[in-house]
Amino acid sequence: MEDKINEIKSDLEKDLANVKDLNDLTLLKVKYLGKKGLITDLTSNMKDLSIEKRKEVGRIVNEIKEEVLGKINALEEELKNKELTLKLEKEKVDISLPSRKLKRGSRHPFNRIVEDVEDFFVSMGYDVVDGPELETDENCFRLLNLPLGHPARDAQDTFYIDEEYLLRTQTSSVQARTMQGNIEKTPIRMICPGKVYRRDEDATHSHQFGQVEGLVIDKNISLADLKGTLELFAKKMLGENTKVRFRPSYFPFTEPSVEVDVSCFKCGGTGCALCKQTGWIEVLGAGMVHPNVLKMGGYDPAIWSGFAFGTGLDRFAMFRYAIPDIRYLYTNDIRFLEQFDRKDDENEIK
Ligand code: DAH
Repeated sequence: MEDKINEIKSDLEKDLANVKDLNDLTLLKVKYLGKKGLITDLTSNMKDLSIEKRKEVGRIVNEIKEEVLGKINALEEELKNKELTLKLEKEKVDISLPSRKLKRGSRHPFNRIVEDVEDFFVSMGYDVVDGPELETDENCFRLLNLPLGHPARDAQDTFYIDEEYLLRTQTSSVQARTMQGNIEKTPIRMICPGKVYRRDEDATHSHQFGQVEGLVIDKNISLADLKGTLELFAKKMLGENTKVRFRPSYFPFTEPSVEVDVSCFKCGGTGCALCKQTGWIEVLGAGMVHPNVLKMGGYDPAIWSGFAFGTGLDRFAMFRYAIPDIRYLYTNDIRFLEQFDRKDDENEIK
């Protein structure tokens, strides 16, 4: 028995010395303390012994068991610590390394203008509304006092889908929708920025461009309200010193109609290439909502009046950022788009 125990002890020392990781240790545990392990084996012929002997062997076996367990546990602790240190070592983060640059997108110049326009009108209590780009002839023309065969339709080279459906040529279509949609016929204050489509294309025209429409309907709305609103709007978009001029004009959906010029923000009105030496740049169409349009929208012109206006958004973007060709706005060249964070800081007109 004693020999056996000594043998186990010396084997254990050797085995312990060979343990490299926790896996090895588990195997070693099984070898010595498992159900068929070397130590358990010591008690295999106990039943043949006298009670006295049995007691003694039991004590000795327990002792050696404790001893082996103690050694195994100590080694286990040591190995676990070693593994943890190794893991921490491996996962070390070098906080002095420069971070990877995140590629930041930038806001499209067109959207910058739209956001400014929305900010201005929302601050004046307007709703921002939306309308579909695929429109009906009815909303785009007929309800705006442009019946079939009206000569002003020719000016708007329309992409027709079929007899009734078309790509809207003007956001004015949303005037018709908003009046129709307002079942209770309450006052309206809305703008609608959006895309429109026409069949021309050159450096200053694109088959697709942006407009913003405005419509106000209430009681006692007059041309003075229109003038005041558009004057403030022009100053907000093009600078405090901007002067505004109204010229009589014609639009089928307004009466009277005006075209709105702003003093040239490049030369300040003295005349330059941008304003073709006139000192003025035309930016808006507007007028008092035509009684026919009010009637077709369900508003009694004897009670209600209103004004409307429409303007090209791309032109504002081109003015503000000195963009020479409108088509740049629609090609989405990243090198073109990236410039505008910087330009906004330099040019911001407040
Ligand atoms: N829809 C016109 C256009 O595309 C612009 C316009 C002019 C809109 C006068 C209006 C307006 O609301 O009253 O040329």
